[in-house]
Amino acid sequence: MNNKEMVVRELIKRGYSIRNGTKVWDVSDSKLWFSTPELSKAFLELKRNSFYKEHVDDREMLLLNGNTKKIVEMLGTKNFNLIEIGCAEGSKAATFIKNLPNNVKIKFYPIDVSSYFIEQVTNKIKNLYSPNVVEIKPFIQGLKNFDDIVTSLRSAEYKQNVILFLGSLLTMGEITDTLFKLSNAMLDGDVLIIGNGIRTGERFAELEKYQDPLFDKWFVNVMKSLGFTESEINYDARFAHGRVEGFYKVKVDKLVGYDSKHINFKPGDEVVIGIHYKYYEHELKELIGLYFKNIEVIKDPTGNHALFICRK
Ligand SMILES: C[S@@+](CC[C@H](N)C(=O)[O-])C[C@H]1O[C@@H](n2cnc3c(N)ncnc32)[C@H](O)[C@@H]1O
Repeated sequence: MNNKEMVVRELIKRGYSIRNGTKVWDVSDSKLWFSTPELSKAFLELKRNSFYKEHVDDREMLLLNGNTKKIVEMLGTKNFNLIEIGCAEGSKAATFIKNLPNNVKIKFYPIDVSSYFIEQVTNKIKNLYSPNVVEIKPFIQGLKNFDDIVTSLRSAEYKQNVILFLGSLLTMGEITDTLFKLSNAMLDGDVLIIGNGIRTGERFAELEKYQDPLFDKWFVNVMKSLGFTESEINYDARFAHGRVEGFYKVKVDKLVGYDSKHINFKPGDEVVIGIHYKYYEHELKELIGLYFKNIEVIKDPTGNHALFICRK
């Protein structure tokens, strides 16, 4: 299925709602944000050149550098499968692996919807020539079916799974759906490491972070795949439905579709592409606690980002 088909299908599947007299199409599924090399590259630009670097990546790297050894000690095994779901270009996995004690052996399984990222992560980890890594096997897979892969990776020698779920990916969609899937894929002894932002001040604040033109540069590729040109749409961000929404306002009358499936956009219609929820620490603990008995929270020095070490 090409990208246009994927987005049109999502538009048709989800339909629209009317908000204050405006037709709003919501296709805020993270699988659409990374489905072409252009989208993946535009995300990397945002990751390297916006608040994302300081507020997410740098904080998570610091936490991984300082805590990987402790997390591994907690496992009580010297051989495990390291699975990163939504691995992107692999900088977090590389940091985790570089911090492993010498006597630990891992099999590394990156899972991502983006074939561009899967190639990058595979090369990055191979090029570490780490004595800790005995196998690398990547999977191009969406969040819908990762549980089948995760459960199939255990072997007699490598029984335990350590799952990385980083970069605030958990709050870029419906949190309980994802936590349910993650916990279902795990057995006693497995560890899930969630890296996520924590809300500390006002609930709805810092909208300007999401109005950064780099978000437009990234998400516009979804609209372009439908056939829109940049002059036919306008990017903005807002708070709605308890989350931040990155959306486009359509400025023209445009028929979009493939085969017999069509949607007629009108000026003023809106298409929501990106969403992000932000929770206070107690809310995250409560939600994660629905699925995991044992949660350790390791916060960064700012208190705005944390690793949640979860066991069933
Ligand atoms: C927010 S980024 C986080 C990247 C990385 N974990 C980090 O911390 O730098 C989300 C990653 O998850 C992947 N992803 C997003 N939605 C996905 C989906 N539905 N299925 C599989 N991977 C997905 C993206 O391709 C991207 O690599």
